[in-house]
Amino acid sequence: MRQKIVAGNWTLNKNVAETKSLIADLKAQTNTSGARVIITPSFVNLTTAVEAVAGSNIEVAAQNMSQHDSGAYTGETSADMLKSAGVNITLLGHSERRAYYGETDALLAEKVDKALAENIEVIFCFGEELEERKSGKHFDVVASQISNALFHLGADAFKNIILAYEPVWAIGTGETASADQAQEMHAFIRKTLADKYSADLADSVSILYGGSCKPTNAQEIFSKTDVDGGLIGGAALKAEDFFGIINANK
Ligand code: PGA
Repeated sequence: MRQKIVAGNWTLNKNVAETKSLIADLKAQTNTSGARVIITPSFVNLTTAVEAVAGSNIEVAAQNMSQHDSGAYTGETSADMLKSAGVNITLLGHSERRAYYGETDALLAEKVDKALAENIEVIFCFGEELEERKSGKHFDVVASQISNALFHLGADAFKNIILAYEPVWAIGTGETASADQAQEMHAFIRKTLADKYSADLADSVSILYGGSCKPTNAQEIFSKTDVDGGLIGGAALKAEDFFGIINANK
């Protein structure tokens, strides 16, 4: 079902004490928007975070997940490990994972399959680079990222997938896509889903915008028909900013 969602991508930030403190600050705020609120602390802090969010509507997600169940894969974290820590949601395909750790569409298709098979909800991230937008290839790039990693799935799988469009040129740069650029791409994504599956399915999937979303620009972006919320990086690290963004998603 299409939902309003604001997810905070904490990336490589916050130690144990800072994780507890930010969650305490978040719990002290009131979500007046009714949106789902998701945070993604580092792996080492997931258990702490799950304990700390108890009694609130804040959900805890991982930033990544292995495609493997277990074995000699140093540095990896499995679906079972996440679930045993009380985590049932993961980001997959963030542009930083793609750019710095070589995650390809094919690998992401495997990870998506593993997560869904293990009943882990996926926030699937994708988006074009600056050069691709400048040369007018952004729609093709996005269509191929989505189709390569997701279009082998049956329609039912999309009940457990949230899409996050994040133009790489807007992530952490302070440069935001305009609300119209976000809407244009989100409408294209919905049409791509409708063409492959059905209009009903396309209308049921939540599509988040990510890339330098701030309390000052969130309301305009979230007011667009096809934007269901945001995946927030830098501004998710301060309770006041994050809540300003959540409360902009009415
Ligand atoms: P940003 O990051 O909000 O700092 O641009 C977005 C993200 O990392 O997903």
